[in-house]
Amino acid sequence: MDVRPRELAPISLTVNGNVHELEVEPRWLLCDVLRHQLGLTGTHVGCEHGVCGCCTVLIDGRPARSCLMFAVTADGADIRTVEGLARGDGKLHPLQTAFRRHHGLQCGFCTPGFLMAALPIYRRAGALSDDELREALGGQLCRCTGYVGIVAAVRAAAEIEAGDSAP
Ligand code: FES
Ligand code: FES
Repeated sequence: MDVRPRELAPISLTVNGNVHELEVEPRWLLCDVLRHQLGLTGTHVGCEHGVCGCCTVLIDGRPARSCLMFAVTADGADIRTVEGLARGDGKLHPLQTAFRRHHGLQCGFCTPGFLMAALPIYRRAGALSDDELREALGGQLCRCTGYVGIVAAVRAAAEIEAGDSAP
């Protein structure tokens, strides 16, 4: 039996605007640290090898698969997870409202990944063809919806946002 003490590395992650000083084993995946160390279980884990996209979060503003990244390599990163979408008063983000309104989810397992993948692009979705929008979201897999509602939701989110901010 291996009785060596576990090797822990100090890291600092900013997650949804909150700074977390953590100690992690070098082998721990970022998705597992988000879920198990920080309790942010909205980031789902499906395939654990970079295929399904369920674990997508924003790292320094860009979508990335958190199951393909060791937490130590995210040291110093600014991370946004699905928990960072809704406002503090509980009001849904326009993307979340759009997914609900346009039936962009059924079981919901893929939804956090889709929301985070769509976050950097939804405001320019109107300028994209359906093929281009599907290509932009092509890293995410959904086994329930057939994608029609998801594409409609991403298209509708900017309009919902504009309505929200109307005087
Ligand atoms: S769990 Fe990360 S891509 Fe599937
Ligand atoms: S809503 Fe079930 S996998 Fe997408």
